[in-house]
Amino acid sequence: MSSENSAPKHVPVMLQRCMDALAPAISAPGAVVVDATLGLGGHSEALLSQFPEVRLVAVDRDPAALKLSAERLAPFGDRATLVHAVYDEIPAVLEDLGIPRVQGILFDLGVSSMQLDEADRGFAYAQDAPLDMRMDQSRGLSAAEVLNTYSHGELARILKFYGEERFAGKIASVIVREREKEPFTNSARLVELVRNAIPAATRRTGGNPAKRTFQALRIEVNGELEVLDRAIPGALDSLAMGGRIVVMSYQSLEDRLVKQYFAAGATNTAPPGLPFIPEENQPWLKLLTRGAELATEAEIEENRRAAPVRLRVAERIRETGRR
Ligand SMILES: C[S@@+](CC[C@H](N)C(=O)[O-])C[C@H]1O[C@@H](n2cnc3c(N)ncnc32)[C@H](O)[C@@H]1O
Repeated sequence: MSSENSAPKHVPVMLQRCMDALAPAISAPGAVVVDATLGLGGHSEALLSQFPEVRLVAVDRDPAALKLSAERLAPFGDRATLVHAVYDEIPAVLEDLGIPRVQGILFDLGVSSMQLDEADRGFAYAQDAPLDMRMDQSRGLSAAEVLNTYSHGELARILKFYGEERFAGKIASVIVREREKEPFTNSARLVELVRNAIPAATRRTGGNPAKRTFQALRIEVNGELEVLDRAIPGALDSLAMGGRIVVMSYQSLEDRLVKQYFAAGATNTAPPGLPFIPEENQPWLKLLTRGAELATEAEIEENRRAAPVRLRVAERIRETGRR
């Protein structure tokens, strides 16, 4: 399917919830908001239309997403600045633009519907395609290179941790054995091998058995967790006082990481027993969601991609002197 065909089908996840969460921080004149995951520009377009005073800085590591969104956001002229970057580079991007702090930041993690729909990028296990999975095809190892070169131990580790795959060791053994016969190039062969590697009883439950292997490869190929682990603290440091951050995660490893950074900022770090809490030990973030929020049943009905989403919102309530 071409990107032109897939674009109109795209429905941004929890769109109005994100706008409402950011509204108190970004409604005043001069506000700057960062869309860390521009994608097809759904959230960015809503930010620019619903907040007429806002200036948007939007980032994506996928050049194809930037190209499509540039057309979509062209009517907003210089209110939108689009930058090809990985989201852990946001502090540097802002510095280059001469923007010291921002009032809002939005992360809508994972892959875009365009990336999933474009078969030749190899993200989807449902169609036979070259095993690439790089969000930016100009750098890094492809999924095929990972499969063909990593040791058994490394493959088992990524399948277990990034895919939360129970049969990681078994699948890694099959991959190592089969690549001796012929290197991996396409997804259908991998899907078939994974299916055969897991016990028949497990095969009958929980959807396509290759789903976890594909998730693991995608996370590894794009360094997703390492990048997020740098990106969240960088984004929090870039928030002005009263600034708000919204993060939507689609799998538990990402959500756990976001939760930990938010919780650390919202915790009183004073040693127990002090008569008062020194300024530097007071929380500097306020959590605005109780746990993680889910999409409504109605939204999931309309847009299956909203089913796994976990949304968290926090507000910066104190300077920390870190930046
Ligand atoms: C779920 S989509 C965003 C969809 C977008 N909110 C919309 O409404 O169209 C996620 C996007 O983030 C991008 N992305 C993922 N990881 C990234 C990273 N580390 N740095 C920059 N962009 C990234 C992907 O290329 C993809 O286009």
